[in-house]
Amino acid sequence: MRILVTGGAGFIGSNFIRYFLRRYPETTLINVDLLTYAGNVANMEGFTAYPGYRFLHADINDREKLEPYFAAGLDAVVNFAAESHVDRSIEAPLVFARTNINGTLNLLALAQQYGVKRFLQISTDEVYGALGPEGLFTEESPLAPNSPYAASKAGADLLVLAFYKTYGLPVLITRCSNNYGPYQFPEKLIPLAIINAVRDEPVPLYGDGQQVRDWIHVDDHCRALERVLRDGRPGTVYNIGGRCERTNREVVRLILDLLGKPEDLIRYVADRPGHDRRYGVAVDKIRAELGWEAAIPFAEGLAQTVGWYLKHRQWWEAILSGAYMEFYKRNYGYRLGKTEHKDR
Ligand code: NAD
Ligand code: DAU
Repeated sequence: MRILVTGGAGFIGSNFIRYFLRRYPETTLINVDLLTYAGNVANMEGFTAYPGYRFLHADINDREKLEPYFAAGLDAVVNFAAESHVDRSIEAPLVFARTNINGTLNLLALAQQYGVKRFLQISTDEVYGALGPEGLFTEESPLAPNSPYAASKAGADLLVLAFYKTYGLPVLITRCSNNYGPYQFPEKLIPLAIINAVRDEPVPLYGDGQQVRDWIHVDDHCRALERVLRDGRPGTVYNIGGRCERTNREVVRLILDLLGKPEDLIRYVADRPGHDRRYGVAVDKIRAELGWEAAIPFAEGLAQTVGWYLKHRQWWEAILSGAYMEFYKRNYGYRLGKTEHKDR
């Protein structure tokens, strides 16, 4: 098997490659990553032990660099590469269109030209917008993205489906809920809360902290992706979710509890503009068609994740000392300085 994976130096992509190579050590796997602020060489530890593993430092928009790999024939493309953080998309949306939309289109065009056998697009439940207190997103829910990030992912999904309808490219789309686990970049809620709490720094909760996310351990997500890649029906979408809805406040409290830290580390700060109130994902289709469901209980997965960040201090300290802190300090400082208010 010869597969090309993009974004494999990021959080989910690196977990997926580790999972996939363990299961299929004979695979020829080309990992294409631009190594943006979110791509990390340290996430790819151990990959080169597999003889079929190759790393290609490239932008998914770079047709010239990618073409020889497509021309050599590919059984599958799995597209994780993206700008993935909602707050950044609010501050600087252009790169989101460039990578998430144009980059996906470039991959699709190459896949179509060279007859790739399966094209798996890693999308997100955020394309469905926000839920009220009731109901769940199904694959039939209308696309109603609210952030520039979510809109760019929805745009990519439409292009992917257009390549199925227009050219018959065998595409698959997965839309997963919020992942957590090892190697997640510390701009996202769970790693940020863990790292701040370990350092006795304030943990910011946007708005009232009552927004709801549906959490899934990244290992469960990777297992679902393998099922879809192997046996999913081309031209269709599969939702993936943990069926584990928690308010942000509950999640942060659990983390503080696991670390034995006081609740007064929580700081309520200015809300994210256009903040989606609730996500919740129905997984009936993937369960019925592919026999998958999430297996890692949240309490267990979260405790394991906290343990991983405690053990891998060097990994995140290297990130904190880098350029990423510029963005973080600017935003975090702004929010804390201007809008801090007491826990309610
Ligand atoms: P991440 O930000 O941790 O990693 C993204 C990776 O893509 C990085 O390694 C980065 O260097 C690479 N990349 C960015 N632009 C690139 C480009 N132009 N060319 C090549 N590589 C590029 O993201 P993540 O959280 O691992 O998310 C991976 C995918 O899963 C994304 O498509 C995201 O939309 C989707 N997703 C994420 C979640 C989640 O909870 N994190 C949930 C559902 C779906
Ligand atoms: O639902 C899937 C999506 O989950 C993925 O498509 C995105 O790539 C991924 O980033 C994630 O998006 P969210 O915006 O839900 O994740 P984030 O970790 O940024 O925020 C989770 C919730 O926590 C959200 O309601 C905002 C809130 N939050 C976040 C941060 C970083 C806070 O209250 N404080 C924070 O400091």
